[in-house]
Amino acid sequence: MPDRATTTEASDALVFFGATGDLAYKKIFPALYAMAKRGALEVPVIGVAYSGWDLGQLRERAEDSVRTQGGGIDDRQAFDHLMSSLAYVDGDYRDTNTFMALKAALGSARHPAHYLAIPPVMFETVVRGLAASSAAGGARVIVEKPFGRDLASAQELNRVLHSAFPESAIFRIDHYLGKEPIENLVYFRFANSFLEPIWNRHHIASVQITLAESFGVQSRGKFYDEVGALRDVVQNHLLQVVALLAMEPPAGSGPDPLRDEKVKVFRTMRPLVTDDLVRGQYDGYREEPGVAPDSEVETYAAVRLFIDSWRWAGVPWYLRAGKCLAETVTETWIEFTAPPQRLFADSQQPAGRTNYIRFRFAPESQIALAARVKEPGQAFVGTQHELYLCDEHPGDEAPYQRLLSDALAGNGMLFTREDGVEAAWAVVEPVLDEHGPVQRYEPGSWGPADAEALVAPGGGWRNRALEAGSTSGTAL
Ligand code: BG6
Repeated sequence: MPDRATTTEASDALVFFGATGDLAYKKIFPALYAMAKRGALEVPVIGVAYSGWDLGQLRERAEDSVRTQGGGIDDRQAFDHLMSSLAYVDGDYRDTNTFMALKAALGSARHPAHYLAIPPVMFETVVRGLAASSAAGGARVIVEKPFGRDLASAQELNRVLHSAFPESAIFRIDHYLGKEPIENLVYFRFANSFLEPIWNRHHIASVQITLAESFGVQSRGKFYDEVGALRDVVQNHLLQVVALLAMEPPAGSGPDPLRDEKVKVFRTMRPLVTDDLVRGQYDGYREEPGVAPDSEVETYAAVRLFIDSWRWAGVPWYLRAGKCLAETVTETWIEFTAPPQRLFADSQQPAGRTNYIRFRFAPESQIALAARVKEPGQAFVGTQHELYLCDEHPGDEAPYQRLLSDALAGNGMLFTREDGVEAAWAVVEPVLDEHGPVQRYEPGSWGPADAEALVAPGGGWRNRALEAGSTSGTAL
């Protein structure tokens, strides 16, 4: 593919297909409003959809979205700016007239960014329409997950996008990469030197990552029942977190050195086998609207993963994600090995009560380092205390704001690259169809019992910090 469409220029228009849809309503309008408040919305925004709407209706929808999903209108000038930046093109994506109307709406814009906030089955039609109307040249394209449902479909999607856009013009959103505490993983690892000597298999016994949600599939039953937890959040969000934690230092700044290192991690991940996966389904899932009454789709997945690299050989990575669990929390525990000698009365700790670093991404952002400290008294007995290195509460720039601004500026650092997406699919591919049956679990629990057995060699899942509160110096 010749690099004819590559541009280093900032985008001069944002086009979003699916303007009347759910993603636009829940995420895009609030992000645009937030950008307007920051003075960072400097391009016309053209919504495209096939709904028979006009611009007035789109504006009403945008207003409703900002009010209900974006925390309300607290800056009238920014809101008016967003409204006046909006344009709308209504039409069938299969009709060339739709793309002619879009070209007209683009006016003198030469480097639009086309955001495909539409189901992936429609990507090809829209990409063809853009190419045929010459709206793809010099442009960027932004796509959302799910990026395929297996390796072959991801490759097919990449083929479709590459038919009109070079890789450097494709921005694949995994919104986890736009989250402040997840960016902090990279910063924390490589802005400090004390970690590097211990960040390997000699000192790290295991790693756990939890993405737990206390709510069910909400109104997304139909979508979710075609996807399941493994495809919905493990193949993408959780494997991205693993890659950031496991990668070698990038050989320079900019998007590609970092993405190169992540790809190396995906390629050294051992493809999963049946025994590496425990699947669960919460009681009541089959009664959710849109879900098949005999659905075998998992709403919970626990995975044991190995990275066969010099740094990580033999270290188990335990990942779990689920709906209707006991808490809503996203957290990573890096468990260090026990001291080599048991010198003290309390040295014989229950399994896993070793030092650890804990990164919490939600509901608040925390980095905590846990170490044992002697308790006053004659006996050499102590407790584990957490030292909080960071303990922040919401108010960060929301991921979509950051990702949209970056895509418009042409900065691909926080976006996934073709080789990375495909390598991540290759890890989960063997268990997409070859897996054990789903096991039922009670809503409000921590998932099926077999998931405990999976992690038992690593000392069990860590749920304790959930109870510990956020006070510095909490004994665990
Ligand atoms: C989405 C999944 O990608 O991520 C959802 O489709 C999940 O099922 C969500 O709830 C979790 O993201 P966040 O930002 O809400 O933690």
